Amino acid sequence: MSSLRWLKRGAAALSLTFSFYGLLQAQAQATNFPNQPPILLGAAWYPEQWPESRWNTDLGLMEKAHIHVVRIGEFAWSSMEPQEGVYKFGWLDRAIALAAQHHIAVVLGTPTAAPPDWLTTKYPQTLRTNDQGVKAQHGNRQQFSFTDPTYRRFAYQIALEMAKRYGHNPNVVGWQIDNELANPDFGPTAQAQFHAWLKNRYGTIANLNRQWATAYWSETYDHFDEVPVRDYNENPALLLDWYRFVSDTWKSYLENQIRALRPNIDPRQFITTNTMGWFDGFNEYEINSVLDLAAWDDYIPTAHYDYLDNGARHDLARGYKNKNFWVMETEPVFVDWRSTNTPLKKGQVRDMAWQAIGHGADTVEYWQWRSAPNGQEEYHGTLVGADGEPEPVYWEIQKIGQEFDETGSALEGTTPHSEVAVINDYDSRWAIDFQRQAQKFDPVAELLAFYDPLRTASQAVDIVSVDAPLDKYKLVVAPALNVLTKAEAEKLEAYVEQGGHLILGPRSGMKKRNNGLQPEQQPGPMEPFLGARVEQFYALDKNVPLEGTLGVGTAKIWAEQLDITATGKDAADVHVLESYGRSNGWLDGQPAIVTRKVGKGTITYVGAWLTPALMKRFTDYELAQAGVHPLLAGVPPGVEVCVRSNAHKYILILINHDTMVHRVALHRPMYNLLADKASVVTSVLLPKYGVAVLEASSAQ
Ligand code: GAL
Repeated sequence: MSSLRWLKRGAAALSLTFSFYGLLQAQAQATNFPNQPPILLGAAWYPEQWPESRWNTDLGLMEKAHIHVVRIGEFAWSSMEPQEGVYKFGWLDRAIALAAQHHIAVVLGTPTAAPPDWLTTKYPQTLRTNDQGVKAQHGNRQQFSFTDPTYRRFAYQIALEMAKRYGHNPNVVGWQIDNELANPDFGPTAQAQFHAWLKNRYGTIANLNRQWATAYWSETYDHFDEVPVRDYNENPALLLDWYRFVSDTWKSYLENQIRALRPNIDPRQFITTNTMGWFDGFNEYEINSVLDLAAWDDYIPTAHYDYLDNGARHDLARGYKNKNFWVMETEPVFVDWRSTNTPLKKGQVRDMAWQAIGHGADTVEYWQWRSAPNGQEEYHGTLVGADGEPEPVYWEIQKIGQEFDETGSALEGTTPHSEVAVINDYDSRWAIDFQRQAQKFDPVAELLAFYDPLRTASQAVDIVSVDAPLDKYKLVVAPALNVLTKAEAEKLEAYVEQGGHLILGPRSGMKKRNNGLQPEQQPGPMEPFLGARVEQFYALDKNVPLEGTLGVGTAKIWAEQLDITATGKDAADVHVLESYGRSNGWLDGQPAIVTRKVGKGTITYVGAWLTPALMKRFTDYELAQAGVHPLLAGVPPGVEVCVRSNAHKYILILINHDTMVHRVALHRPMYNLLADKASVVTSVLLPKYGVAVLEASSAQ
């Protein structure tokens, strides 16, 4: 990069602090979200909970923290429509206008996650019934039924009123529909809709009986409306269809509001909803297919920040639409809903923010700005305290905001690129969860057993649907593709024929689309292609030894006894990589991992859940076979490497998640964007939780 270009970009970044709108105009053509800086810091703000006299102070403090976006309104229905058909938007008009004066843009939440009391009292059918037949009550949130036509009518109407009012407001950049869609309804309306859904899918009850094999336990139905509605302890075919119905219903729930919004809002305003990582109550790919942007809420699920696990959830969100995404909520130091709400350590809030950007987030928003004066979440972390003054974390977040401003123009238009994909498949996850066989066989943990060493070694992994285009990847891993259709099998085979390297994990290819057993042994339709099959599977309560080309190691939780079925000259291409040592007799000496060269690529079946040391050797072997190299070799453990690039830019983000200081050598001279930007460096020193953002002069 010439120093002239650097100076220009540096000047632009500087001007951001002083002249927000000047910069907006300059960038209007270039960004995904015209009128916005490329990388945004934000917070959830609830003006309806505070006297208006306080707003200006809050917005001033936000501006000082480099906050450029607030999300407003997602629980404010009773403030927007205090009585049926009586709308009060004056406060929201003023809040948006005041935010604009502070150069803060707005994402508007439709408030349908929290219906007002007048609505559910007058129309009790809008209340959700849980799987035990108990109706939800007013006083908490998410008490609505996602199927109820009356609820949908009101949801449409409030979204419409908001769209008409703010659809062309220059300071509104996007819309979040509802908030963290989650709980389905099991009431009479949901039942009737499920029955109609089944009729539409199967045509006749005789066909449903055949597909579900209902002769088992005399489950045979005479009419669709006899089919029970349940999400556990049922015929696996019914359960899988229930989850598909729930996915379709959440999708149509979103579409109902999209119909109100889209015709009345500017095309520049995006529509999204905020999702929850590995949550599997519905198929995320389906939900996101009707949205413009993927957004998710990044909370640490256990007491401590596990960066690989958190990075995987970013990669998952990026895969919903195969493009950059937003972190719509994340925690300022701690939450209030775990058993012990331990804080992130000082420095880790910044570490997490940069990890989000490194994995493809273009915005990081904190939940929340300030606690409501009362209510269920008084203990949650915030940026501002009960006294209205900055909490200690405010200053760390302010630094993040400043850094986002300084690096935004460099990061603009860039995204992570991976040569490795891991397939996340909801049908398979549900099917395994209904019948785990080994209680510890958590399909997400099993996916991560592959992901972690792949991410560490290759430094870039996409997590995608089986329907995503796979051709661009050198290596594709389907960790447990339990439900496998013929069409999917053919797609995977074509990928291998054309030079791809495919790994199928344990339990792959066992089930048909209706969650019944394939008529062949695993991997079902892919058995001839693999030239091997699963003779039998075994749940384990003790680790089993393995040995072979990759050395010795162990398997846990699950082990499948494989057998080579290819014969004659076909058999010459099939190799056993690892076999079981002595264990239950059935497995002793039997193949555990089988690999075959087919066409220009390879297919490898792993019949066991490998423990970390062997898994690492296995994934390293596969990465080498596929010709995947690390983006930056020689990086110390605990330092994460992320690259965002495009045809003209190459940005390296290094994050030291470790408590030790590490020096990282670069593979070329780069500009250190968070330090002395004008001169190039060939290595960087990363303190504990330190971050470096580096830019190369060209993508080459
Ligand atoms: C999220 C939710 C927010 C807030 C937050 C607390 O799940 O969307 O409204 O409750 O959790 O961590």
